[in-house]
Amino acid sequence: MYQHTDHPVIAFIGGGNMASAMVNGLVTHGYPPQSIIVADPNEEQRAMAVKRFGVDISPTTPEAVEQAQVVVLAVKPQVVERVAAQIAVMPSRGAKLFVSIAAGIRLSQLEKVLGFGTAIIRAMPNTPSLIGCGATAIFSNACTTEEQISMVTRMMGSFGICVTVSEESQLDAVTAISGSGPAYFFLLMEEMIRVGTQLGLSEQDALKLTLQTARGAANMAAQGEASPSQLRARVTSPNGTTQCAINSMQEDGLAMLIEHAVQAAHRRAVELGMSSDPARR
Ligand SMILES: NC(=O)c1ccc[n+]([C@@H]2O[C@H](COP(=O)([O-])OP(=O)(O)OC[C@H]3O[C@@H](n4cnc5c(N)ncnc54)[C@H](OP(=O)(O)O)[C@@H]3O)[C@@H](O)[C@H]2O)c1
Repeated sequence: MYQHTDHPVIAFIGGGNMASAMVNGLVTHGYPPQSIIVADPNEEQRAMAVKRFGVDISPTTPEAVEQAQVVVLAVKPQVVERVAAQIAVMPSRGAKLFVSIAAGIRLSQLEKVLGFGTAIIRAMPNTPSLIGCGATAIFSNACTTEEQISMVTRMMGSFGICVTVSEESQLDAVTAISGSGPAYFFLLMEEMIRVGTQLGLSEQDALKLTLQTARGAANMAAQGEASPSQLRARVTSPNGTTQCAINSMQEDGLAMLIEHAVQAAHRRAVELGMSSDPARR
């Protein structure tokens, strides 16, 4: 049994992509692997967790949960309630903090299974977490302490950035912005590469130039010295090439296009949340 106040034992239930990203971030940032347990029925996943991170493993959920102070539910949304029901019968569950990353599963659904009065934090990470560049938002129920929220914020911050939202419903907006967001940028890159080749560049050059431009623009914006709109104004000289392109995008209604797209993603996130919640169907 591991005990250390600075490094509570964290059990990951489900050792797939997102759990690996989180464990990688934690271990890279000095979290002791011996304070992490990965439970997954898949032997290959368990073997990989030991080989990559040197963490402890368990084939069963109750065994891992019993030893942990923090339990991360990192299984697919359709499995999460079944896993929670397995944990709900454990007498020791009440003292633990639960963190669910299952997309669209509401706190009320988890509270219903795990018991009202259980400390639960819902987190919505995104795919760049896999390379340490994640954007995560969290929302906690009233049973969580400031200390628990701060611990989870640090945990999510080990593989990117983490913000706290003030209403659970805002997680649907998070899904529409940072959850689905990487694909919006990939689409923009795809189109720039396509047009670059139309204009005579080799596919390889168009790809390299587009990727480096995306990285450069993101890094400049991330420095925070100027807002994206100020940075855009700075590189847009009057009557120059950039202004021609920006004018063309604005005349073609880019702002409305993006607004419609993000709203469509938001509507879908709300719908999916409702369809996974039997009480709201
Ligand atoms: N990937 C993302 O970008 C992303 C972003 C935000 C949120 N999420 C959320 O993160 C969660 C995990 O996603 P993922 O992409 O990491 O999925 P994943 O790679 O499929 O990982 C889930 C793992 O859980 C295992 N598992 C299945 N049943 C289990 C059980 N009863 N007990 C313990 N482990 C079990 C699976 O094993 P088998 O493969 O053998 O079934 C698999 O190894 C999902 O709820 C998803 O909504 C993911």
